[in-house]
Amino acid sequence: KAYLRWTTNLPRVQPFYAVKCNNTPAVLWLLSALGSGFDCASKGEIDLALSLGVTPDKIIYAHPTKPSYHIRYACSQGVDTMTFDNEEELLKISSFHAHAKLVLRIAVDDSKSELKLSPKFGVPLSSAGKLLERAAQLGLQVTGVSFHVGSRCTESSAFKQAIADSRHVFDIAMSLLDIGGGFSGTDDSVSFDEFSEVINEALDELFPPDSGVRIIAEPGRYCVESAFTLAVNVIAKRAAVNETDGSSGKYLLLTSRMEYYINDGVYGSLNCILNFPENMKIEPHLHRPRLKSLLWGPTCDCVDKVLDSVWIPELRVGDWLLLDNSGAYTSSLCSDFNGFERALTFPVMTADAFNTLIRPHCTATFQTSCYSSEEKTCVSSCSVWSSNTKSTSKCV
Ligand SMILES: Cc1ncc(COP(=O)(O)O)c(C=O)c1O
Repeated sequence: KAYLRWTTNLPRVQPFYAVKCNNTPAVLWLLSALGSGFDCASKGEIDLALSLGVTPDKIIYAHPTKPSYHIRYACSQGVDTMTFDNEEELLKISSFHAHAKLVLRIAVDDSKSELKLSPKFGVPLSSAGKLLERAAQLGLQVTGVSFHVGSRCTESSAFKQAIADSRHVFDIAMSLLDIGGGFSGTDDSVSFDEFSEVINEALDELFPPDSGVRIIAEPGRYCVESAFTLAVNVIAKRAAVNETDGSSGKYLLLTSRMEYYINDGVYGSLNCILNFPENMKIEPHLHRPRLKSLLWGPTCDCVDKVLDSVWIPELRVGDWLLLDNSGAYTSSLCSDFNGFERALTFPVMTADAFNTLIRPHCTATFQTSCYSSEEKTCVSSCSVWSSNTKSTSKCV
């Protein structure tokens, strides 16, 4: 749905989905079948995309600071389009991929975004000219300009300004503008419709269709955030004992505050809480008295805290919590810390969509798929889709 909304709202802008956001094979398969390109940030992500049948021309290697051997690998696979923002990168590229089609990443104002990227990437506008001259001296081909307004952008005007900045450094030999990512997947602070309107207007004014400039983008969060629900299980609980009696030094039991330990946390799918703690909201549907509660992740580390203070009905060990909008920067950030298993992914889609988009591309590795004909829902247990190779992926 998100993809179709994109093509309706931004007909001139071809999406290159940012694999880093969620690298579940089912997501990549589906987006590939819909016609998306892919933004890959490393050899591993390029490998994953190619292994799923994505062709090299549908990949942009969108990382301005790359290890040399990843550049060499991109070259060997025919992945030619890649970003840069500094002279050292140009020197590496001239050694390992001299015929690359380069895209200059510029730093833009990301003050209106929750997660800023300009401190780390992008050449300041004032230095862009010099860098382009250096690329020309090295005989490298710079084909376009890219920017990223920062993740979870909260003001559409950020795109207007960034497109104007791009126009400023665009030279006559260039033919590609990459407007990056940054869109929310949930229409929360600014709707995608508003972003689209502002972007279309800026593009029509500064990069009109007859300019011949190809426009692409690298949406991550927008494509997948609302597509996933994370199910977490309560594995342990205790009543809080965090205050001492001043005179005796003994613990006082605070029975009004509960602590729960769930089977996923900041070292697993909930790593994004470290950046956006305020975005973690739990809205209980049970109409029972609520207790002040704290949710810990499963590992031994105190940093592994999911929610500090939330009012929820008392939970039992074994209860499940369903967290909506868990598709962005969740499974792709999981680690194996402390030996806890990564969450399994069970892709679910309508049977019609499955038969049209996915089944024609399934190979022999496709094992089983289950249908509930009444609900017209297909629950797949395809091994090529499993995000965890250890998974037995039983149909549920
Ligand atoms: C180069 C690049 N492109 C695209 C993205 C995806 O951004 P978002 O998920 O905000 O759309 C990122 C995120 O860090 C990025 O660094």
